[in-house]
Amino acid sequence: MEIKYIEATTKSGLRWNLSFIESNNQIPFDIKRVYYIYDLFDDWMQRWNHAHHNTKQVLFCINWKVKIWFDTWNEIQEFILGKANKWVYISLMVWHYMTDFSPWCILLVIASEVYNENNYIREYASFRKLIK
Ligand code: TYD
Repeated sequence: MEIKYIEATTKSGLRWNLSFIESNNQIPFDIKRVYYIYDLFDDWMQRWNHAHHNTKQVLFCINWKVKIWFDTWNEIQEFILGKANKWVYISLMVWHYMTDFSPWCILLVIASEVYNENNYIREYASFRKLIK
C-alpha cells in the first residue's frame, strides 16, 4: 500500500514549459492503459470510491484541479492535483475518491493493467476486511 508524489522532469524556456514522465522511470510500472475523466460538472459529488486488487495507477490533473483522497488502513490523506508537473502514484489496495472537481478539469490516469472489473474492490467494508 503506497502513495508517492511524483514530480515530472521539466524543461523550461522563456515562454514555455515541457514536462514528462516515463514508463519504468518516474512511473514505476509498464504502462498498459491511459484513460481520462472530463466534463465533470457535478463538482459536489464524490466519485470513484474504490481500490484495486492488482492495478497500480499514476494520476494527474492535466487541466484545472481536483481534490483526491487516499485511505489506507490507518490514515486518510488529501491531495490537490492541480500543478502542471505534479503527479501521484498509488499502488494496489489504496481506497481513493475524488471531490471538488473544477469544471473543465481533465483527470488523466496511467494504469499498469488493462480494464478488468474483477480488479475493483467497490465495497468499503470488503476493502477494510482485506487489508486488516
Ligand atoms: P468506473 O471506474 O467504474 O467509474 P465509477 O467508479 O464512478 O463507477 O468507470 C465507469 C465506466 O467506465 C464503467 O462502466 C467501466 C468503464 N471503464 C472502462 O470500460 N474502461 C476503463 O478503463 C475504465 C476506467 C472504466
